[in-house]
Amino acid sequence: MNVKSSVKDRQMLEGQYGDAAKLAMSILVRMAEVYGTTELIDVTQAHVDSCALLSDSNLEFAETLLERGGRVSIPTTLNMIPLDLQNWKRLGVPEKFAVKAMRLATAYTDMGCVPTWTCAPYQGYLTPRFGQQIAWGESNAVVYANSVLGARTNRYGDFLDICAAITGRAPKAGLHLKENRKGQLLLRLVDIPPKLQEEESFYVALGHLMGNLVQDKVPVIEGLPVRATDDHLKALGAAAASSGAVALFHAIGVTPEANTLEEALQGSHPERIIDVQSSDLKAAWSDLSTAAEGEKLDVVILGCPHFSFAEFQQLAQAIEDLGGGPRHPTCRMLILTSQTSYSLLQRSDFVDPLTDFGVEIVLDTCMFHTPIIGPETKVVMTNSGKCAYYAPGHLDVQVAFSSLRDCICSAIAGVVCREESLWKVS
Ligand code: F3S
Repeated sequence: MNVKSSVKDRQMLEGQYGDAAKLAMSILVRMAEVYGTTELIDVTQAHVDSCALLSDSNLEFAETLLERGGRVSIPTTLNMIPLDLQNWKRLGVPEKFAVKAMRLATAYTDMGCVPTWTCAPYQGYLTPRFGQQIAWGESNAVVYANSVLGARTNRYGDFLDICAAITGRAPKAGLHLKENRKGQLLLRLVDIPPKLQEEESFYVALGHLMGNLVQDKVPVIEGLPVRATDDHLKALGAAAASSGAVALFHAIGVTPEANTLEEALQGSHPERIIDVQSSDLKAAWSDLSTAAEGEKLDVVILGCPHFSFAEFQQLAQAIEDLGGGPRHPTCRMLILTSQTSYSLLQRSDFVDPLTDFGVEIVLDTCMFHTPIIGPETKVVMTNSGKCAYYAPGHLDVQVAFSSLRDCICSAIAGVVCREESLWKVS
């Protein structure tokens, strides 16, 4: 298959823009063939996920690009890195690992990327606009960008994201094209109690269920509350992108390409209609836990995806409502966040209640990528569908999933406590 290239594409392929651009463009052209397209399009923003240190190849590839003169040509933010750059010694990260992580971070910033170091780039710097063609990595960021912002990206994995950032080009395929953004499956929320719909766990359970049901298709949700906050939609998308490969969903009356059902389906009929009832959501809620009620709890993890300022606010309020804590001496509470949200937190009144409770704030990174959860950790609790989904396999722990309130109560008690009454199905 011959990929049509612009004059500039050809100049890149010939090396006129340097060796790194030549390598990046040759990879993109090959990937366009894999995507089954003969064309590339301009992208005007990138978010790079290859800055995780999954193996030495991440470091080798980044440093190779840099040595060959690699430089991003479009505004490019960076996903979390495998290190809390300020606190890694306190967190007990081995120095050998930290040195590699810092080399990796430096390689990307030296290529001109913005050191945002967050998996929630949509709540910080350089949020893309509706209809903007972008090349983003990190599954939760991709689903949020497509669904909530109405920007257009495929799920770009390592190392297509940085190749797109250097060249400003991406294969013209998948969710870059309007026709591929039409809803395929219709999920109708039926008789869900309004009180349940106000709960953050409702969105996670729905996302987890949706990912399992639709896999990589585009679902349309009918009946989602229009009051859903950015953080609710973030939680929903992150869960759906974990249990399935959801990269775009529409929620009628909530997300920008779904003012009506007809608009979401682009005038066609859904391949399937699925009614979602409270009992389905209760089952999804239960499915996210492997730890038993009353089990000794070692760590509560919040901020997957990274905590926003609004979530810090909710946490501080919930702690106050529950009497201020503190946490049980043997149960840690880790909060993952970005420097951007942390800067706002430091200007707020919430620092003292959180400090008094005994939270540990971890910046720039993720528990699956940096060794901050030791082998002594047996039971983890979280309010994140993504964390609950991956923790048993990645951290070799038992996991309990529930609301923020339950996470706080459990951290105080030092054992898993989950309030099931909301999920009772009559
Ligand atoms: Fe972010 Fe790690 Fe969760 S990258 S979304 S904190 S799994």
